[in-house]
Amino acid sequence: MNSIAFIGGGNMASCLIGGLLATGYRREQLSVSDPGDGARRNLQEQHQITAINDNCAAVRDADVVVLAVKPQLIANIAEDLSAALKPGCAVVSIAAGVPLSALEGWLGDDTAIVRAMPNTPAMVLTGATGLFANNHVSSPQRQTIEQIFNAVGCVCWLQSEKQVDVVTAVSGSGPAYFFLLFEIMQRAAEELGLPAATARELVLQTARGATEMAQTASIDPAELRRQVTSPGGTTQRALETLDQGGLEQLVKRAMSAAVERAEEMSNDHA
Ligand SMILES: NC(=O)c1ccc[n+]([C@@H]2O[C@H](COP(=O)([O-])OP(=O)(O)OC[C@H]3O[C@@H](n4cnc5c(N)ncnc54)[C@H](OP(=O)(O)O)[C@@H]3O)[C@@H](O)[C@H]2O)c1
Repeated sequence: MNSIAFIGGGNMASCLIGGLLATGYRREQLSVSDPGDGARRNLQEQHQITAINDNCAAVRDADVVVLAVKPQLIANIAEDLSAALKPGCAVVSIAAGVPLSALEGWLGDDTAIVRAMPNTPAMVLTGATGLFANNHVSSPQRQTIEQIFNAVGCVCWLQSEKQVDVVTAVSGSGPAYFFLLFEIMQRAAEELGLPAATARELVLQTARGATEMAQTASIDPAELRRQVTSPGGTTQRALETLDQGGLEQLVKRAMSAAVERAEEMSNDHA
């Protein structure tokens, strides 16, 4: 197993570290650097891992370096790190909207670099991550990087960097779409007469049940939907109402808007 260094020890790094330890990585294989006393203390308390405040020292022996800092800080951090990287190491950036061209500019054109777009459910080990590698990333490096994100959920390798913006709109921003739907269904259930706690429990359990069915069934969601929609019944009436309100067009517009914003953010760094 390889050694992995995290630059930035905040939320995302902490959940990746938790996932790696749970899947068999040893603490000695992981190093973290973060300037914040609070972040370093959290890592010690949560994972019994000692973080330092020295980015270059943290990456010196690492086979894989994960840049887990805010996008606006990454330029200076990556430039400072470039000379300290071990020859042949791979760098993974999880910074939203920072294109490979910019990362290659800061780290060196021949550096093996992967852009990763994880999402917040990684914190409860049900994340979804899109990965896109430049041409310098070897097959064993791909496997190691895949392991890092598989430790907190599922991983999809992408064929083009443009797809990273689509992943941002689907799974990066996606949890918020579902949270909004939960909020709306809960409010509607309360307005229709259910107590708040009952409404919440029924909405969340229904979302969990529907996800479980969609993931385990051999048929696609459209067929599952048809199977639960009796002609002339309550579900049909509700679905017709959603359709008349333009739900499909609205969701497509929202996701296109998210892709557009992700492209704008990438252009700011290009
Ligand atoms: N959270 C998500 O769901 C999610 C999803 C996809 C992608 N991302 C990306 O993941 C990255 C990290 O997000 P996060 O939520 O983990 O942020 P975070 O909790 O703020 O973690 C970033 C950490 O980096 C530290 N830091 C600041 N300057 C540093 C430096 N010079 N060297 C090393 N560490 C430094 C910060 O310390 P201070 O707080 O003291 O500044 C903070 O502890 C972001 O680029 C974000 O776009 C996050």
